[in-house]
Amino acid sequence: MEVTKFGVVGAGQMGNGIAHVAALAGLEVVLSDVAEGVLQKAMATIAKNMDRQVAKGTVSAAQKDEALARITTTTSLEAFAGCQLVVEAVVEDFAVKAEVFRKLDGLLPESAILASNTSSISITKLAGVTGRPDRFIGMHFFNPVPVMQLVEIVRGIATSAETFQTVEALAKRMGKTPVEVNDFPGFVSNRVLMPMINEAIYAVYEGVATPEAVDAVMKLGMNHPMGPLQLADFIGLDTCLAILKVLYEGFGDPKYRPCPLLVKMVDAGWLGRKSGRGFYQYN
Ligand code: CAA
Repeated sequence: MEVTKFGVVGAGQMGNGIAHVAALAGLEVVLSDVAEGVLQKAMATIAKNMDRQVAKGTVSAAQKDEALARITTTTSLEAFAGCQLVVEAVVEDFAVKAEVFRKLDGLLPESAILASNTSSISITKLAGVTGRPDRFIGMHFFNPVPVMQLVEIVRGIATSAETFQTVEALAKRMGKTPVEVNDFPGFVSNRVLMPMINEAIYAVYEGVATPEAVDAVMKLGMNHPMGPLQLADFIGLDTCLAILKVLYEGFGDPKYRPCPLLVKMVDAGWLGRKSGRGFYQYN
């Protein structure tokens, strides 16, 4: 199946990045969120990020304008009725995602595919709330979406070969490199990344080193573009905690226990870059 009309639920940092890349790839995009203000902010972010590409010469001013004109924003899920594929990028919470998928399942034509950008929640379990588990899949993008090459494509237990092929072709059309993985907690990306971030937080918690020193070790010693604590702030400490909880509960292994310092910071509302404070100060 060829996808021409593509829906994105959630206009936060992942959702607006996915809409950005899809629109530049020539797709008609419907982008939704619960509030008009969030959508306006998302469109401003997309325009600003496309300007970086225009300044670099990888996108022309005309391509930017055409791409922006291909994005329709809405606060109602009903606007997704004509989409062949809808990807959900709302908060990392099973109940919230399940509610979105139950509604979409009732609205979309039978042939449409539902995808989740979840970082760790079971694709099989999310598919189970819909009547179309064969047309359900994980399409996991990375932040900043316009820059990062990878889309981790996660097959649930019932995902059909046709669904996989459609989504793989779509990821390529969006200029990304798809990598196929099976549905296990944290998939591959966060099963490997989050224990490193959690261990970096333990190093601060136990007084081994300051956040600056931990990040400098990993940047200068391992050539990571960002240190793990800078990256945790970038991802959002609430999201990191949610993913670690999925790993801890999913595997039942204490090696995934979220560091108490991470729990405390999230309780304090120190969520990283988006709240202005995390391991670093942003304003
Ligand atoms: N849109 C478009 N372009 C962007 C952009 C955006 N949102 N953000 C950055 N860029 C471009 C810049 O214009 C710049 O382009 P040029 O090099 O051609 O000039 C380039 O990306 C690099 O940006 P900067 O010069 O501003 O900054 P930098 O060199 O420090 O790189 C970074 C920034 C790309 C974010 C880099 O630090 C990096 O790769 N960090 C690691 C990011 C990462 O690991 N992401 C994955 C997080 S995990 C996740 O998302 C999923 C999950 O499940 C938790």
